[in-house]
Amino acid sequence: MARSKRILFLAELTQGYHSVLDIGTDHGFVLEKAFEKGYIQKGIASDLREQPLKSAKNNLKNYPVTFVISDGFLAIKEDFDLAIIAGMGAHLIKDIMNHAPKKDITYILQPNDKTDILREYLMNHGFSIIDEYLVKDKFYYVILKVKRGESKLTPEDILLGPVLRYKPESRALYDYKLKQIDKIYENADEKRREELDAMRKIYKNIEIC
Ligand SMILES: C[S@@+](CC[C@H](N)C(=O)[O-])C[C@H]1O[C@@H](n2cnc3c(N)ncnc32)[C@H](O)[C@@H]1O
Repeated sequence: MARSKRILFLAELTQGYHSVLDIGTDHGFVLEKAFEKGYIQKGIASDLREQPLKSAKNNLKNYPVTFVISDGFLAIKEDFDLAIIAGMGAHLIKDIMNHAPKKDITYILQPNDKTDILREYLMNHGFSIIDEYLVKDKFYYVILKVKRGESKLTPEDILLGPVLRYKPESRALYDYKLKQIDKIYENADEKRREELDAMRKIYKNIEIC
């Protein structure tokens, strides 16, 4: 069945990994695509709730997948070399990453909002962003590829993305953000306006090369 560009892109990022944990799997679409493409050998589909996991069980019945009810990483016993946490708010992803294993694995994180807050959290909690991708589907989606490691991000890196800011396709995202700032500016209080002015300056002045 046709899947969204976002789902297809997330599945592409599983290439080169063996066992993939999908936290908050919902329908299991990312793992389904990754298996269809022959990218991965094993899946762990996990969700906080019974109902989404039922749907994932149905969609993934032909593949070697373990199904686990789990709050983030907490009940995961299986080994994996890639963990995906996608389609959730940045604060929820932060809460889940607080319990990430200490092992050397790769994380694919796709927050629905507040990517800057997630980047700052990652820097302050011993994670390093090794790549960033932009997918334009119904909305713009930023996807972070992350590993454990030290990183130092400037305020510009946090807002724009330490990798994304050097990718030409990001200009469209930054222009979209500038329009959003224009929309909310009028009704913002003075303190918020100061923040919006600072963000506007960063989005405007970036030179992408
Ligand atoms: C909007 S769906 C995203 C589904 C899929 N990952 C995607 O990118 O399309 C969010 C899913 O995360 C699950 N979820 C929410 N909090 C969670 C947590 N703490 N641990 C595991 N799953 C969680 C929800 O039950 C829901 O199925």
